[in-house]
This record gives sequence, C-alpha cells and structure tokens, in this order.
Amino acid sequence: MSDLEAPLRPKRKKGIADFLVQFRWILVVFVVLPISVTIYFLIYLGDVKSDMKSYKKRQKEHDENVKKVVKRLKERNPSKDGLVCTARKPWIAVGMRNVDYKRARHFEVDLSAFRNILDIDKDRMIAKVEPLVNMGQISRATCPMNLSLAVVAELDDLTVGGLINGYGIEGSSHIYGLFSDTVVAYEIVLADGQVVRATKDNEYKDLFYAIPWSQGTLGLLVSAEIKLIPIKEYMKLTYKPVASNLREIAQAYADSFAPRDGDQDNQAKVPDFVEGMIYTSTEAVFMTGRYASKEEAKKKGNVINSVGWWFKPWFYQHAATALKRGEFTEYIPTREYYHRHTRSLYWEGKLILPFGDQFWFRFLFGWMMPPKVSLLKATQGEAIRNYYHQNHVIQDMLVPLYKVGDALEWQHREVEVNMSFSAPAFNYSFSF
Ligand SMILES: *[C@@H]1O[C@H](CO)[C@@H](O)[C@H](O)[C@H]1NC(C)=O
Ligand SMILES: *[C@@H]1O[C@H](CO)[C@@H](O)[C@H](O)[C@H]1NC(C)=O
Ligand SMILES: *[C@@H]1O[C@H](CO)[C@@H](O)[C@H](O)[C@H]1NC(C)=O
Repeated sequence: MSDLEAPLRPKRKKGIADFLVQFRWILVVFVVLPISVTIYFLIYLGDVKSDMKSYKKRQKEHDENVKKVVKRLKERNPSKDGLVCTARKPWIAVGMRNVDYKRARHFEVDLSAFRNILDIDKDRMIAKVEPLVNMGQISRATCPMNLSLAVVAELDDLTVGGLINGYGIEGSSHIYGLFSDTVVAYEIVLADGQVVRATKDNEYKDLFYAIPWSQGTLGLLVSAEIKLIPIKEYMKLTYKPVASNLREIAQAYADSFAPRDGDQDNQAKVPDFVEGMIYTSTEAVFMTGRYASKEEAKKKGNVINSVGWWFKPWFYQHAATALKRGEFTEYIPTREYYHRHTRSLYWEGKLILPFGDQFWFRFLFGWMMPPKVSLLKATQGEAIRNYYHQNHVIQDMLVPLYKVGDALEWQHREVEVNMSFSAPAFNYSFSF
C-alpha cells in the first residue's frame, strides 16, 4: 500500500466561499426544498394529466409540436443566426459542467413540450417517449405492468434525451450495454427542418449510430423508441463487504458479475444487477441483484426492505453497514431499487445538507428530498459555483474492466478514493 500514500497537500486558506458553503443549508432548507417540492408536485400533476390522455391523442400533439419545431427552423438564416441550440437553460441540466457554448450567439428552439410518454407497446416491447421524459416518470408508468427499460439510470430527474445525447449506464449495463444501446429508433429534426426516423438498418443508419454521445450536435431529438424488458416485483440484493487493497477490491468487483471462465451467457453465473461502492482505499461493498417474484420475496425468513420510504437511511450508508455486519441479503421493491440513490443524490446530499442523513431530519423533512439539482445550481451564486469547481470532483469514467485496479490506484493518488461508485457495461466499467 505504501506507493498509494497520497502526498500531503498544503492546506488551503479558508475564504468567504467556505463560509457560504458552510451555511448553504439555510438557503437549501428554507428556500430550495420548499420550491423543489412545489415543482415536483406540479410536474407530477402534469404527468397525471398526460397519463389520462390516450396514446393516440399524445401522438397527435407530438406531431403538432414537431411541426412547430420545423416551422421555427425554417425561420433561421444560417449565415446570420448562429448554431441551433435547444432553449433549455444550462442550469436545468443535472450535469455539473459549465455550459459556456450557450453564451455565444445561437438560434434557440424550444423543446419544452416534449415531455410525454407516447406509447408503451407490449407486443413489440417498445416504449416510445419524448426526450424530456425522465426516469422517475417512465418507471412509474412501466413497473406496474411488470415492464421496464433495460437500463434505468438511478436519479429520477435524468432525461431520455440526456441519456442518449450524453450517455447513460446502470447496474444492468453488463447485460444490455449503454442506455443508447437499448434504443431501436430515433426521430430527429435536422437543421434544415427535415424530420427523419433513424434505425440501425434504414437509409439513416449513419445517423442512428452517430447520435449517441453526440451532445445534440447532429439534430434535435424529438422522440426515441426504446426496448422494454419483462421484470419481477422485487430485487433480491446481496451486499458483500470487501476489506482489502484497491487491486483486490477491483478483482472482487470483476468477480461479482464476470465469471472467470468467460461464460457470460450463463444466467446462473451472471446477476441481473451489479454495483460497487468504495468507501475508503481499503473498504468496499459490492451488491448483486436478481429479479424475484412477490411470492419468493414474501417467503418466511426473507427480509423485505422498502428503501423508498422517506425516513429510510440513505442507501449508500445502508450498504456500508455490510462492512460491520458482514454479507447480507434482502428484497427491495424493484422500482424503489431502481431509484435507490435519488433521495440522497448518491452521497452528494451529505455535502449539501450535512445533517440530512440524521434520523430526525429524514423523519421530518426526508419526504422533501432531494432538492432539485437545477434549483441548487440556480441558487448557488458565483462564489459557491467556483468553490465547487475548484474543490469538488464528480467524475464519470468508462474504463475496460481489466483496468479498474489501475484506474482506482490512479484515482486514489490524484484525489484520494472516497466514495466511488461503479456500474459495469459489458467488459467496461464505470467508476467514481
Ligand atoms: C405482474 O406480475 C404479477 C405476478 O408476478 C401479477 O400478479 C400481476 O398481475 C402482474 N401485473 C400485470 C399488470 O400484468
Ligand atoms: C475520506 O475518507 C477518510 C477516511 O475514512 C476520512 O477521514 C476523510 O474525511 C474522507 N474525506 C472526505 C472528503 O470525505
Ligand atoms: C473483453 O475483454 C477481454 C480482455 O481485454 C477481451 O479478451 C475480450 O475479447 C473482450 N470481450 C468483448 C466481448 O469485447
């Protein structure tokens, strides 16, 4: 381990920003949370209203909205108006990076109406959705039908458009790939106003393969058809602690879902879900999940843990209890499992509200969590924003599975491993 000891960094001088960060909770508790709750409630009402419309009606409204986008694009003078951008304000996105390109001259197209589920086709096992549909909305619609997207990103607010134009990965990606790998068709409005449907084998197949991770540079995504899979009501989750060095932790992680004999197709050897959390450079917990029926979950002796209740311990802290109590297994309602990190925003919640994980806070105010990331960003001000940019790392990395050990050691040397998160894609692993 000695080569891993990080050199001591000089202590930073405390400034006004530290002070602001320390007392940020006042703004969060009294302003951000109440507004968040109101917004969530209004959005929920909007979704309920949309749910009451037939799929046919929603498709009709969709077609009208697409026509509006086309009309708007025809108004653009390419030599004068600059690049096409969505009118979405940068602070609304869940991502933390600076979005400076929207400060330059650009031609805004408003896509805010594209927030509906257009169809759930149980025969084709396809969900057709608009880009602003988010994960919470889609799992609320599909889980009661015993269906789900194959890759459900955990935070409720993550949108289909973001997961396609950026990328999305989850604990089921070792089976299904990235979020975009589960999409079978994109409906795109090109800059000249042409509306095309791109699939992997039609005349727009180049576009189909180019859209994922293109950050919206190729056209405006207005709907996507995404594969559904059958699911069961519960996730049987086993928490396994590992106390060792980072190399061994990386090996244990690989062993938790990738059979050493390479027999990836053997369902008995490969779990439906896998996730790892590394708490310090010597402590990690790996979780593997399998879908389970209600009958199985309710059998005598099994523990059912509804982690979705507002007063429940934050998930990463609950998982950490395996370090003390040893390996354990429990059954979690599937939808609550999908969104296990929503309430605490992984472990970011602890930085925003240092006492948010305490029992009294969870019990009294937990139902208001999480603060909307977009509101946090909108209210943080320049000083706090710069503080986070200088002192706080949120880094997604995709590395090949056999490189995870190297990546963890490198990460530990550079910024100290504290709280990594990982979900594997086939042969690739995502961490930190
Ligand atoms: C979902 O599956 C359960 C049994 O596993 C069944 O009781 C229930 O009716 C199913 N729901 C739908 C909408 O098919
Ligand atoms: C990282 O982990 C160490 C050991 O558990 C802890 O002392 C330290 O406070 C943590 N650092 C941060 C930034 O959480
Ligand atoms: C996974 O990675 C291993 C090691 O690099 C390689 O031999 C294997 O072919 C890869 N499998 C796939 C499906 O890419």
